[in-house]
Amino acid sequence: MTTTLNDAITLPCGVTLNNRILKSAMTEGMADYNDQATQRHATLYQRWAEGDAGLLITGNVMVDARYLERPGNVCVESSADQPHLRHWATAGQSNGNPMWMQISHPGRQVAKIVSKTPLAPSPVQLKLGGYFAEPRALTENDIQDIIRRFGVTALGAKNSGFAGVQIHGAHGYLISEFLSPVVNQRNDRWGGSLENRARLLLDVVRAVRNNVGSEFPISVKLNSADFQKGGFTLVECVEVAKMLEHEKIDLLEISGGTYEQTNMFGTTDTPNDTNQTKRESTKQREAYFLDYAKTIRAAIKTPFAVTGGFRSADTMREALLNSEVDIIGLARPFCVEPDLPRKLIQGNIQHLHPYENTLQFGNGKMGINSPYKLISMMNVQAQVSWFSHQIYRLAVHQDPDTSAGLKRSYLKQMYNEIRIAAVRKRSPTEER
Ligand SMILES: Cc1cc2nc3c(=O)[nH]c(=O)nc-3n(C[C@H](O)[C@H](O)[C@H](O)COP(=O)(O)O)c2cc1C
Repeated sequence: MTTTLNDAITLPCGVTLNNRILKSAMTEGMADYNDQATQRHATLYQRWAEGDAGLLITGNVMVDARYLERPGNVCVESSADQPHLRHWATAGQSNGNPMWMQISHPGRQVAKIVSKTPLAPSPVQLKLGGYFAEPRALTENDIQDIIRRFGVTALGAKNSGFAGVQIHGAHGYLISEFLSPVVNQRNDRWGGSLENRARLLLDVVRAVRNNVGSEFPISVKLNSADFQKGGFTLVECVEVAKMLEHEKIDLLEISGGTYEQTNMFGTTDTPNDTNQTKRESTKQREAYFLDYAKTIRAAIKTPFAVTGGFRSADTMREALLNSEVDIIGLARPFCVEPDLPRKLIQGNIQHLHPYENTLQFGNGKMGINSPYKLISMMNVQAQVSWFSHQIYRLAVHQDPDTSAGLKRSYLKQMYNEIRIAAVRKRSPTEER
């Protein structure tokens, strides 16, 4: 049997997605000073809904207002039906498509302007030029509180009209930190063996399932690997994927990398990458994690998506035809082509412009693949700011502006985040 981009797929919970195109999570940074979704969220997701994606996943929504991935994150700390969330969910599903909320705790990847005391499995600071503070190791009580919070946020999403949730277990945020032997140096039941390191993820999945019931879709986004010496490996990812299948999750989405090793954006040429040979062959292909994904796919039957670098209709079709994936995840292309799914399905677009290949401050040591981590990170941040700039435009009924400057987008974004962080600090919500 052959699978095309336009084929429906039914998930283990019984929910059917209309096609195989998933808009992957992209943080919006558009919440108000009380961390609530705004009209801009609704406008943005209505625009994306009109593009006919099989599934929209929101940017990461925080489970604890004290720890944001960045200023402007939406935060959900109540299980109640909340008007600002309902408005967002209604607009984002106005075309009959489901929209799922990605829920997350950032762990140690919290900029100092948000928190000077971030949390992590162990007090291991990010090696990124002091931009991130040294984290405090979580206590048993902290961990239990975080598990509970994931459950509460997921129920808040469900009660407010979202059609599913995705637990963010990738990219070096808290759950991903627990999986990594580099950041997780604990010697209690949360660290050491893979079984212990995966305990937080599995307990979060169970807390969420317990709150939302068996018919509500739960997805997990997981790293195929951290691409760091001593970090979470592909072999371990395969084992965790099997554990998640046992928990009957509905969709596994594969990505890779962390803030220190930003493979999720296609950056590769940094010295800590321990998969040099494999990396070269993967680099020839546009989809960064497809080689890794094949190994994971072979071990599980759970519906399976891969995100990162898909840029041509042929590669997407081939991956589906060969059953390497069930669903194609796309993120940055949605910022410049909001109607992407329809165009892909109708065959009106063959190649997605790889803007990320040219958006950088310089070449070589000054570029995105600089051996100097700080420079590489600044390039990545600038690039992400450029895509965020497109998102902001869509959110106020404007079309994307691909002539926008990289430096300008970066500076604007930094100014915006510092401003929001400063106002939030003065607001009573900081006391929560
Ligand atoms: C502006 C922006 C924000 C992002 N925010 C998130 C996020 O909140 N959660 C997440 O899992 N990934 C996030 N990502 C990563 C994307 O989901 C995706 O994994 C990555 O961009 C690679 O896919 P692509 O090549 O199709 O863009 C973000 C990416 C961008 C460009």
